[in-house]
Amino acid sequence: MPNDENATAPFSSYAAEIYLRGLGDTRPSYPTDPAQLEGAARAVLADGPYGYVAGGAGSGATMRANREAFDRYGLVPRMLRDTTARDWSTTLLGTTMPAPLLLAPIGVLSIMHKDGELAVARAAAELGVPMVLSTASSHSIEEVAEASGTGPRWYQLYWPTEDEVTVSILARARAAGFTTLVVTLDTWTLGWRPMDLDGAYLLFLRGVGTATPFSDPAFRAGLAKAPEDDLMAAVGRWVPMFTGTALRWDRLDLIREHWDGPIVLKGIQHVDDALRALDAGMDGIVVSNHGGRQVDRAIGSLSTLPGILAAVDGRAPVLFDSGIRTGADAAVALALGADAVLLGRPYSYGLALGGQDGVRHVVRSVPAELDITLALSGFADLASLRAASDAVTHLR
Ligand code: FNR
Repeated sequence: MPNDENATAPFSSYAAEIYLRGLGDTRPSYPTDPAQLEGAARAVLADGPYGYVAGGAGSGATMRANREAFDRYGLVPRMLRDTTARDWSTTLLGTTMPAPLLLAPIGVLSIMHKDGELAVARAAAELGVPMVLSTASSHSIEEVAEASGTGPRWYQLYWPTEDEVTVSILARARAAGFTTLVVTLDTWTLGWRPMDLDGAYLLFLRGVGTATPFSDPAFRAGLAKAPEDDLMAAVGRWVPMFTGTALRWDRLDLIREHWDGPIVLKGIQHVDDALRALDAGMDGIVVSNHGGRQVDRAIGSLSTLPGILAAVDGRAPVLFDSGIRTGADAAVALALGADAVLLGRPYSYGLALGGQDGVRHVVRSVPAELDITLALSGFADLASLRAASDAVTHLR
């Protein structure tokens, strides 16, 4: 956990720690450069798992747009401001975190490393960074909660078609100490993903990434035999329940009724949907296009952020993801006004390379760079960044 006097300590000391170890001829075990990190993960992963994580929808245009959107903004550093003492901690929907950064929900993490979500939960808890646990996890809600210890945790819902199962999963997440619910709207069915299609790779059909429903009493109640005894029957129940969900705005009432904590809608890309979420009484939104994995030829997620922030106008937290690779990327999204960012693919590459240790490296590196970037730009905390309207500029 971060120490109380300097909430940014586990991050701000990371570069110094690396250079000092260099005096003993020890180099970091994992790259800090995001492209090299992905390349190193590529080298240790089989085609299926790598394609599942790195691949996107269709031609990959949305993934590229996510990155290109960052190129259209630039930070405008300011000088001679004392930013030696810094504190990036923030409290979002009741969760205090050392930096405005959470780990995005990523499913099926056991394909990256045998410890999967458990390793992520342990690394996140160590650093006090909230993990958003996916419904498509390879370990159950309760197992991940235990691995999280006292670490902050949010739960992401893929919304089942059967209300009994939805209600049961929500009750389990609540009982396991998950505080905020993130309801993902953009993946009620899987996008067209050539890398997975070409490898005929969908591990859910082999009962991987199904730990939560398969251990769920309401899900199991609908099966003649337990998933352990008849995997294909369980998969046959899982497929229509999680890949054809007919979601509508009025159905959010069910979620509200069965979740007494904050609820955040993830997958918002249009101003009207952001406003509709607020009208529906939701507590926040995540501006996200699922890392370009769902709709190809969509706009870059960052392009939609300024308009949505202007429309929401501070009435609810606006989180952002899709395309964040570095601390400087996070700095741009925060300077534009996002309340926090979610880090996605990079931590899963860390997981592939070194389990908990690899996740720790990534989840220290990104906020460490965020800290240095904002400090060198003249900011010492989020309040000063928020107060500046000229921390970032649109380039073209
Ligand atoms: C995801 N994402 C995701 N989102 C979600 O709500 N539930 C999930 O189970 C998953 N699973 C998942 C698996 C993999 C392999 C990836 C890469 C992504 C989307 C994730 O939360 C986030 O929106 C994206 O990762 C953001 O894009 P970048 O920054 O990682 O490219």
